[in-house]
Amino acid sequence: MSTHNFLNTRVLVVGGAGFVGSNLVHQILAQNPKEIIVVDNLISSDVANIPADQRVRFVFGSITDDRILANLPENLDYAFHLACYHGNQSSIADPFADHENNTLTSLKLFDRLSQIKQLKRVVYAAAACAVAEKTYGEPTATTEDQPITLYHDSPYSISKIIGELYGNYYWQQHNLPIVKARFSNVYGPREILGAGQWRGTVHTVWRNVTPTFIWRSLNGDALPLDNGGNTSRDFIFVEDMARGLMACALNGEPGGVYNLATGKETTILQLATLINEYTGNKTPVDLKPARDWDRSGKRFASTEKAESELGFTAQVGIDEGIRRTVEWTRDNQERISQSISKHNKLMSQVVGAAC
Ligand SMILES: NC(=O)c1ccc[n+]([C@@H]2O[C@H](COP(=O)([O-])OP(=O)(O)OC[C@H]3O[C@@H](n4cnc5c(N)ncnc54)[C@H](O)[C@@H]3O)[C@@H](O)[C@H]2O)c1
Repeated sequence: MSTHNFLNTRVLVVGGAGFVGSNLVHQILAQNPKEIIVVDNLISSDVANIPADQRVRFVFGSITDDRILANLPENLDYAFHLACYHGNQSSIADPFADHENNTLTSLKLFDRLSQIKQLKRVVYAAAACAVAEKTYGEPTATTEDQPITLYHDSPYSISKIIGELYGNYYWQQHNLPIVKARFSNVYGPREILGAGQWRGTVHTVWRNVTPTFIWRSLNGDALPLDNGGNTSRDFIFVEDMARGLMACALNGEPGGVYNLATGKETTILQLATLINEYTGNKTPVDLKPARDWDRSGKRFASTEKAESELGFTAQVGIDEGIRRTVEWTRDNQERISQSISKHNKLMSQVVGAAC
């Protein structure tokens, strides 16, 4: 396993204004790169997430724009592809927007990057949820070689898989040094509720279960738990996720795929209880029955391959991670409130959190 870092390198982060992308940019900066180029159309993010630093160059626009692609420098060392049409519900509301900002971004970016011969690695943000088996029985850890279904619940999930397929194609046929990082559920600072443009549903605001629960809990609301909060996920703190992505770039095998996860299962009831503890919310959780259509189930990922081949292990436990995310949310309450309220007119009703 190599031990180098990002010192004096030139790095492209597509989707670098987003939640995970901006945390990644902050962490790479700490290793003194020569330049980080962020390309982002701000469709689901806030420009304030991009650090004001001379070494960061922000290109506003879509990575599907031929001019932006043509202007990418030939002396890139690493590229990270984190653009997507966030998230599952938005993609169901507008599959064509998902295609444009999720599937097409992967195809056009990989095609262009395959011409840049000095690239050491291209890291793709793949999704464990597109791979994991959906079960309400006792789950087993999802491994990287798990078979993948041809039947998906959302265009988003299809796009994430197609990104992997294009990555494999450009690796096998054009030597693109792709590394696929399969994300489990990420939470932490810089996930701003309502960031970016209205994308057709209330999930523009209520992006994910953790920031939604923290926000509602800080406001003293009852946290709604479908199916008694029995659903479970493998929650990884965003700083760990950024470290895992960097490990994929520095140590990942070209063509390889790695789960970035904690290997631990947390139920939504446990998550809600922890959040209420840290916010001091005394309102009891709102236990609801299962929804007929809910197939989200229970899951967690195997971390063995990332540990042995990348030397990556998540460091931040769920207790510390939630405590730090609650603190960040408190410190950024005004900014988040403004981001949510810009959608007020379009949000005719506010319904339960997405899990
Ligand atoms: N957060 C998670 O739990 C999770 C789980 C699985 C996979 N992922 C993947 O990780 C990546 C980052 O997710 P995130 O949670 O930070 O979401 P995010 O919405 O905060 O980040 C996505 C970024 O991509 C940008 N973007 C969208 N379309 C673009 C385009 N055409 N050109 C350039 N930029 C564009 C958005 O403006 C945003 O800044 C995504 O690819 C997502 O599918 C995330």
